[in-house]
Amino acid sequence: MPIFRIPSTSVVNARTNLEKLRGGEDLVVADAGVKLRMLGAIRSAEKCVDCHGGKRGDLLGAFSYSLAGRPR
Ligand code: HEC
Repeated sequence: MPIFRIPSTSVVNARTNLEKLRGGEDLVVADAGVKLRMLGAIRSAEKCVDCHGGKRGDLLGAFSYSLAGRPR
């Protein structure tokens, strides 16, 4: 699974990250200080095509995750 890691200084930009998923990345990770933010692709499987159309591997949606570090 390709993983794209953006530099820790980057501001998390939802639009840019979504474009990376559209471009074929499966997971975009942004290190935003104490938090780790990730955007993961939900791609179409064969069985999804009946209803959603398109083809296997198309981007159907995305999960955004925010992992907070433990308090120090
Ligand atoms: C039986 C038909 C059916 C199948 C099979 C199906 N879906 Fe859906 N899916 C739907 C419907 C209906 C919606 C709601 C669309 C709406 O509200 O506009 C939906 C919505 C979604 C959404 C929310 C985004 C959107 O387009 O509204 C995602 C993501 C999604 N499906 C992914 C999948 C994936 C991944 C699969 C295969 C593992 C899958 N679906 C298989 C019918 C289906």
